[in-house]
Amino acid sequence: MNITFRAATIRDLKDIQNLGTKLTNEEYRRFDKTILKHTKIRDKKDRKDIRRNIKNGCVVLALAGKLPVAYILGSLEKSSPYRIPLRIANLELMYVSKNYRRFGIGTKLIKKFLIWAKSKKADRIKVVAYASNNEAINLYRKFGFNDYTIRLEKNLTK
Ligand SMILES: CC(C)(COP(=O)(O)OP(=O)(O)OC[C@H]1O[C@@H](n2cnc3c(N)ncnc32)[C@H](O)[C@@H]1OP(=O)(O)O)[C@@H](O)C(=O)NCCC(=O)NCCS
Repeated sequence: MNITFRAATIRDLKDIQNLGTKLTNEEYRRFDKTILKHTKIRDKKDRKDIRRNIKNGCVVLALAGKLPVAYILGSLEKSSPYRIPLRIANLELMYVSKNYRRFGIGTKLIKKFLIWAKSKKADRIKVVAYASNNEAINLYRKFGFNDYTIRLEKNLTK
């Protein structure tokens, strides 16, 4: 499969937002019925976040010909005040369109994110995933990510 990768520019904003919508919809369907799906306020905030990350973070787009089929987005953050000072690369969002999965695109996107993180002298890289998202967790483990904290929730309305 002939896939090209490139850093996103502001001209890609709409395509990235569309891929982000697919990610949200899939997460809602498979993992989390409490996710706020796309409202005007959410869409506006998403566009702001994408713009900020294109400017100051890392946003890489994967294309099949001219068709955007996957992306990764993240940024550099400081550690919280209760940890020693660390530069942490936060892998915030990643999505590969369904027909393009299991061809190594996710792997290539993470490699590119790691190169960016190292270029920014990050000490660590972090990602948060739904506990039952096995494909994503397997992928991260392959890259040497280890469990750090585990968040537990209980539904009190049932
Ligand atoms: C997770 C995701 C990004 C993987 O992308 P991909 O391009 O299919 O990944 P790759 O082809 O590079 O696969 C790399 C590794 O991921 C893991 N993996 C990918 N798909 C998997 C699946 N269906 N089941 C189990 N492990 C899987 C495997 O460890 C795989 O390595 P292997 O092929 O040697 O077994 C993609 O499935 C996706 O977009 N999922 C929905 C959105 C999502 O979950 N995003 C992450 C949010 S935290």
